[in-house]
Amino acid sequence: MTTDYGAIAGKYKQYTTDQEEGGNSEQWLGRTPARLALGDVRGKVVLDFGCGPATNGRWLRKNGATVIGLDANSKVIEAARRHDPYSDYRVYNGLLAEALRSEHVDLILMSFSFCTIPDREIRYILRDMRSILSKGGRLVIADPNQEKAHGVKYRELHYLSKEDVQAGDYVSVMLGSGENAILITNDVYRRHVDYRQLLEEAGFSVEAMEEPVPGDDWGNEWAMERMCPPFLLIVAT
Ligand SMILES: C[S@@+](CC[C@H](N)C(=O)[O-])C[C@H]1O[C@@H](n2cnc3c(N)ncnc32)[C@H](O)[C@@H]1O
Repeated sequence: MTTDYGAIAGKYKQYTTDQEEGGNSEQWLGRTPARLALGDVRGKVVLDFGCGPATNGRWLRKNGATVIGLDANSKVIEAARRHDPYSDYRVYNGLLAEALRSEHVDLILMSFSFCTIPDREIRYILRDMRSILSKGGRLVIADPNQEKAHGVKYRELHYLSKEDVQAGDYVSVMLGSGENAILITNDVYRRHVDYRQLLEEAGFSVEAMEEPVPGDDWGNEWAMERMCPPFLLIVAT
């Protein structure tokens, strides 16, 4: 059974939104570095692919970007439009290049969406992305760092362990705890080399592959996140 992000859009939005910008949180460690890796977004058109319930849209718009958000789930798109009524959210129908042929796209963000898409589909999506991205544009990906974090339980995030896990396998992730917990059952397990291969096959070159870790000033309670960085950040051009 695939994860129905439409059914969990409300809880998911809560899990992924910081009360304040920044701070010591998984949101800051995972999504914020990807937002910052986009560079100065003022006046730029940013495609937020697998946008969820406008998790990043409002931040992007506040910083001067024009946002096009695509997501395969129509309920998620409804939620995104409610949370960020001033951006352009559309249901993705599988034809990216066709949908955006007449648009100019400066930057593409895939914030925790790459991991939800199996190889056969991501290959096709990446080729389309390469073709619509304007010259000098970049693709920024934030994903679970399964290679380092598989099986690790962090404070609000648990990458459930799968025996003999192989690249391409579906793995599960538990977000939050108690009655607000969200179980995601269809993330794809990938190692760093698998990301690089998929991107290069599609004509991208990988400019950076980083594992954001909490600074010393975050304190000792973030020791696990320093030892096994939970997130992977990729910049490709
Ligand atoms: C884990 S959520 C990430 C949402 C948001 N970008 C964030 O940073 O939290 C993954 C999103 O990708 C969407 N998605 C999954 N497969 C997709 C596909 N093939 N095409 C477009 N969107 C997809 C899901 O509906 C979901 O909203």
